[in-house]
Amino acid sequence: MPSWSPVSTQSGPDRTTNLRIPTLPDSVMKIRALLQREDVGIGEVSIALSKDPPLAIKVLRIANSVQIGASEPKTSVQAATSMLGLRGVASVVLRAGLIAPFEHLKDADGFSLKDLWCHSILVGQIAENIARACRHRGYDMMPQEYYTCGLVHDIGKIILYDNFGDEFLHVVREKPADVSDIQAESAAFLGLNHAEIGAMAAELWLLPRPVIDVVKFHHRPLDPGSTPEVVTVVTCADEIADLVEAYPDGKPRDLVAKLRTVPPGCTQEMLIKAVSLALVLRPTIEV
Ligand SMILES: [Fe+2]
Ligand SMILES: [Fe+2]
Repeated sequence: MPSWSPVSTQSGPDRTTNLRIPTLPDSVMKIRALLQREDVGIGEVSIALSKDPPLAIKVLRIANSVQIGASEPKTSVQAATSMLGLRGVASVVLRAGLIAPFEHLKDADGFSLKDLWCHSILVGQIAENIARACRHRGYDMMPQEYYTCGLVHDIGKIILYDNFGDEFLHVVREKPADVSDIQAESAAFLGLNHAEIGAMAAELWLLPRPVIDVVKFHHRPLDPGSTPEVVTVVTCADEIADLVEAYPDGKPRDLVAKLRTVPPGCTQEMLIKAVSLALVLRPTIEV
């Protein structure tokens, strides 16, 4: 059973004031805290990881799956962490630990947790790709941290589903066509939507401030308080993921023409490459 941490909201009836957000596994929090230290080395991180064998195995599996074109699979935690680098390890540990608190949830008609994780991983991979291509260093974020943003951007949907079950599904299924998920959620859950709730979770999990802000603003990257140069990278990656999910046989150039959000410094050619990559990656993602 996951452990739960109640999060208070400023207004709303009991059910929203008692919103439950799960904590992450201790080992994940400890390793992420370790990675915050400026003097930490790969060896120390590898030892910490090795103390949680199931987590270490997940990290190895993910490390080997995300390193496209790597010469040979890594079989030791030390080799995998060396290959990923410290910031890469932080993202991969988070991915490995993020799913555990939600493993008790079952799919429902029209709501597949596996699909949502695949979507989140794809958004992370594409956001990292765009950040590298555009050389985005906004907010002092490295490209690997854009991956983290993608990974958690829709986590609020899973938290809403966990808290409200069928009621949440009803809200997003039955909303009028011209109402967005975010608007429908806000109306039903007293101003709380999956972006706001995801940001609360990111804060609880001690993710970096820029990641919290990206989650909060990913559906309104140009709003006051947002940092558009960072958030638009993730919003664009989110749109790309939605497009390749809707049009798996689409032509990259045609899909790029449908994009609404283009990050500053991102050229048409970069977008075509990002969409092409998304089309290739999508069927290969494993949760
Ligand atoms: Fe979203
Ligand atoms: Fe999304």
